[in-house]
Amino acid sequence: MRDVYIIGAGMTDFGEIWNMSLRDLFVEAAIKAINDAGVDRIESMYVGAMSPGLFVGQEHIASLLSDYLGADGIPSTHVESACASGGLAVRQAYFEIASGASEIVLAGGVEKMNDGSDVTYALASASDQEYEAFHGVTFPGLYAMIARAHMHQYGTTREQLADVAVKNHENGLKNPNAQFRMEITPEAVMNSTMVADPLRLLDCSPVTDGAAAVIVCSEEVARKSGKAIIKIRASAQATDHIALHSRQNIASLPAVNKAAEIVFKDSGIKPEDLDLIEVHDCFTIAELVVMEELGLYQRGKSGPAVQNGETRIGGKIPINTSGGLKSKGHPVGATGVAQIIEVVEQLRGNAGERQVEGARLGLAQNMGGSGGSCVLHIMEGMS
Ligand code: COA
Repeated sequence: MRDVYIIGAGMTDFGEIWNMSLRDLFVEAAIKAINDAGVDRIESMYVGAMSPGLFVGQEHIASLLSDYLGADGIPSTHVESACASGGLAVRQAYFEIASGASEIVLAGGVEKMNDGSDVTYALASASDQEYEAFHGVTFPGLYAMIARAHMHQYGTTREQLADVAVKNHENGLKNPNAQFRMEITPEAVMNSTMVADPLRLLDCSPVTDGAAAVIVCSEEVARKSGKAIIKIRASAQATDHIALHSRQNIASLPAVNKAAEIVFKDSGIKPEDLDLIEVHDCFTIAELVVMEELGLYQRGKSGPAVQNGETRIGGKIPINTSGGLKSKGHPVGATGVAQIIEVVEQLRGNAGERQVEGARLGLAQNMGGSGGSCVLHIMEGMS
């Protein structure tokens, strides 16, 4: 397999974007990525989207979006793995370049969630329909069970969950693309509306419209581009039971752990070598469990680490410098690509006020549903 690089990145604002449709959002992000890369062609494209059919009544989006991008005729593929669809789209592009089949591929993600659909119903279709969704369980409900189990088994506290949200909003304030650019206090989190005990409104990622895209290419194209280039050091994917009750321990996310083992082995990089990590904090508890599954902290130690400021910018291991899903927003199919873009911008030294000084190695962790799938990418900034 050949080495694979990223030379272009582009995203829309994340938020309630009433004046743009699914196709407008995708095309804006894709054109920004193409312009950023300075390429005049793409050979194929992958589009991550969780459920365009349920959110806006549109299927067959791969052809639709290549058409609206002006790239009709090229191979275009819709990739779906719930909220991990975006990361998986980048992974497909990675393989297409690594195999030598193509030189320049676009990988994007998009979701238009604020268009009048029953969002909670659409999202719940990524849980086990017969054993979970049918009985009325929602994603806040599933992650609330994970949170309760984690609190019970490892002593994680309500305050530690709040500190995750506070830190992510602190970072999101510095991200011009973020949906919620405001600082919040631990008290505000703990007094916000109860959604699913113990998770409150400010523990939850929001409902978001948005798109993101990257240009993935071979070393030859990357070197010729004359741009700051980012190498994908390793890509990994794993799956797990999608129903919580099938897991041995519901305070864990085994798919993250399995993918982490692969990505660290394949890259030769250790968790402690990383300069920053974007994690899938769809709910505050998810960030804590993922930190443990990645091997950064032992079980029960992630909460105290956040409380001590270790995961803030300037701390031991900055997590979610973009603001994470909590503050930046979570247009589900676009999220995995946007996480990769944050790592790319950090490794390029382009992250402005939220720049991690001297960042060279970063990881993006994207997850589907309540952990039924996980996609990881480790990236390195090259000189
Ligand atoms: N964080 C901060 N503020 C939020 C927010 C969030 N996650 N979600 C909504 N708000 C704000 C809105 O801007 C609005 O503010 P305003 O009154 O000043 O305009 C207010 O809270 C109420 O918004 P509304 O859209 O009516 O909230 P809601 O009760 O319909 O939805 C949630 C709130 C938490 C239920 C919804 O955001 C949700 O389902 N989130 C989880 C999404 C999810 O499951 N994703 C997949 C993960 S696996």
